[in-house]
Amino acid sequence: MRKTENQLLVIFGASGDLTARKLVPALYKLYKDKHLPEHFAVLGVARSFMTDEEFRKRVALESKYLDDSEEFIAAFSEKLFYEDLHKKYDVDYRELNERVQDLNTTYQCDNNIIFYLSTPPSLFEAIAKNLTAKGLNDERLGWKRLIVEKPFGYSLETAKSLNEGLHRYFKESQIYRIDHYLGKETVQNILVTRFANSIFEPLWNRDYIHHVEITNAESGGVESRGGYYDKSGALRDMFQSHLLQLVALIVMEPPLSANPEEIRNEKMKALKSLRLMTDPKVLEENTIRGQYLASEIEGEKVKGYREEVDVDPDSTTETYAAVKFYVDNWRWADVPFYVRTAKRMPTKVTEVVIHFKSPHHQIFKNSDMNKDNKLIIRIQPDEGILVKFGVKVPGQGFAVERGNLDFYYESLGDESHIMEAYERLLLDAMQGDATLYARADEVEAAWRFTDPILDHWKKGDAKIYGYSAGVWGPQHADELIEGKSMWRNPCENLADDAGYCVIE
Ligand code: BG6
Repeated sequence: MRKTENQLLVIFGASGDLTARKLVPALYKLYKDKHLPEHFAVLGVARSFMTDEEFRKRVALESKYLDDSEEFIAAFSEKLFYEDLHKKYDVDYRELNERVQDLNTTYQCDNNIIFYLSTPPSLFEAIAKNLTAKGLNDERLGWKRLIVEKPFGYSLETAKSLNEGLHRYFKESQIYRIDHYLGKETVQNILVTRFANSIFEPLWNRDYIHHVEITNAESGGVESRGGYYDKSGALRDMFQSHLLQLVALIVMEPPLSANPEEIRNEKMKALKSLRLMTDPKVLEENTIRGQYLASEIEGEKVKGYREEVDVDPDSTTETYAAVKFYVDNWRWADVPFYVRTAKRMPTKVTEVVIHFKSPHHQIFKNSDMNKDNKLIIRIQPDEGILVKFGVKVPGQGFAVERGNLDFYYESLGDESHIMEAYERLLLDAMQGDATLYARADEVEAAWRFTDPILDHWKKGDAKIYGYSAGVWGPQHADELIEGKSMWRNPCENLADDAGYCVIE
């Protein structure tokens, strides 16, 4: 096991939702599992005034971990501190610096500091600049790392200028760009499935794969995030970041080793090989956007997107996006990729489906496309892997039916504790492992591919299709997949895909 050195974690934007919902619970779990170093402290920083005690109350660990003793929770809570920034993030950091130095000395953090920026991206550069002015990027006495939350930019141009801004003050090796999908065990397992088995990788190419399908569906709507989402949309919110990272892991060539840079180099090459779509006709034919409409789900009325709080009543922001594209390299030539993401679908599920080609000569006349082999990598929920293959139906002749071979993480028993994405990512950054963080060039490559689609949609002549909340998106999206294939509309349970799933 790698060593976690003594350190101080400074969270900017600590009064926000993410700190109470994800970051502090992740740190607490790491503490419980004895992954934190002997000397460790957390300093929350935000604009509003709070005492240390109030900050500890705000993260409300007691209400989340009812089985743990008060003393145990208190022992962790005593490592949490808070400093307010007098209403601004770009003011003089004298007081903040004093608090950082004080905690560093008192808690013997050895001058190792992580700055976690959970603020709007517009503040990233100003924070980096102010930290630098106080020498807080200086690594002579201890390392300094900067974790930045998504969204990383709004377009290629803004992502580039964000990278340039951060690079003025911190080296790339100090910057950790969060993509919480990379922190998911099941996403990391894509590398193991592909490169630790000799049964999949020989087939992982255009000779055997017919097409690749990725679905990311959420049953919820935009909830309280209408203001952010309306300026973002599904493509920026999910596709450019999380889903293109998934695509990169499916597309990439084997890295020379599991070294972070080797893996990131291959992911980068994969993202560069996505065929850019710039011709309006190509964009029209290969991209579909939609927006959910008011509906009734299981007897309950559900608002349409335009009726959501903080959403423009004439909004053309997409809550559904489906994109068909090709990968221009030796391995993937002519293999279509279909990727879709949406809110207010029938269930919450993310999965990758590798559809294999039919055997080149059909001996059993009744086997059709539907019975082709599929490898389904379930990211969430019911995490696991499912292989679909043909089996003979008992009886005369050779009728072929689909059989399932399945693996569930749950079956690993005690070892099946799947670390929460934020637990894993925080621990990695604490140990200086950037494998699961996106590099500057990767993020820019993902924007380079996404930008033309966004531009095309912005022009306004691209249609936006309505779909009733609770269905699998606009009907039109079914036409995106050519031939006899269809989207696999998955159920919550991995192996249960025969019918139409409704929200449970
Ligand atoms: C976030 C998006 O990055 O990912 C949200 O901003 C989305 O809109 C969320 O709901 C989905 O994450 P997960 O892990 O629940 O699939």
